[in-house]
Amino acid sequence: MNERPIGIFDSGVGGTSIWKEIQHLLPKENCIYLADSKNAPYGEKTADEIIGLSVKNTELLLENNCKIIVVACNTATTNAINYLRSAYDVPFVGIEPAIKPAALNSKSKTVGILATKGTLTSALFHSTAQNHAEGIEIVEREGKGLVELIEKGELDSEATVSLLKQFLEPMLDKGIDYLVLGCTHYPYLVPVLQRLLPEGVKIIDSGEAVARQTKAVLEKGGLLNNMALKGKHRFFTNAELSVLQRFVANITDHVQVDYLDF
Ligand code: DGL
Repeated sequence: MNERPIGIFDSGVGGTSIWKEIQHLLPKENCIYLADSKNAPYGEKTADEIIGLSVKNTELLLENNCKIIVVACNTATTNAINYLRSAYDVPFVGIEPAIKPAALNSKSKTVGILATKGTLTSALFHSTAQNHAEGIEIVEREGKGLVELIEKGELDSEATVSLLKQFLEPMLDKGIDYLVLGCTHYPYLVPVLQRLLPEGVKIIDSGEAVARQTKAVLEKGGLLNNMALKGKHRFFTNAELSVLQRFVANITDHVQVDYLDF
């Protein structure tokens, strides 16, 4: 039973940033990852549409015998995880923007957040921001267009840099000292962000915290894989195979990437 895989889904390649943290922390675990790139970006869809796509992905992971589901997408978590938890018995781990640690550590009391429209307009994001960022100014920007560029593998193109400059400017004008990456695609932009941000502005995301939470839930449920083996990792995309292959190459052994129409 414990050899059953961890199921992970995202609107595309972004959630592989979470998968990397999970496989690093839990190297014995088998994983199945769904990249729903055909339907990206989720961030521009309605909450009902995001719930529908999250249900489709969850059902496919359950058909593949997954013991836990990691919603490796802030947009799907903030819009759909409450529904998913009410509809299925399997444990779910989600990801939300790391507002709390940024707010706790900010000296300038001003924190920037880059996330999708779907995340920034969700009720769950609003309650987190309200509960954990008292006395902090949050400068929000929708990263409109970034997910599409990252899905094409454009991590440092002129178009990507120009969009980022546009999004960062109002945050820097306000004096942020933390930038919260509220979308699992954005950790792939860290090298270019580090170039664009002044020294002293820290970048923070929730990837490691999600891996730790996944481990804690598995431990508590007696679901950890104790086989003394290295995990196997199966990836499915419903779009361009080569893009996903590039994102997961050279991380670990036993990685297989396939096309699937889902
Ligand atoms: N990786 C998703 C997230 O964390 C991107 C959402 C999208 O497809 O717009 O929000």
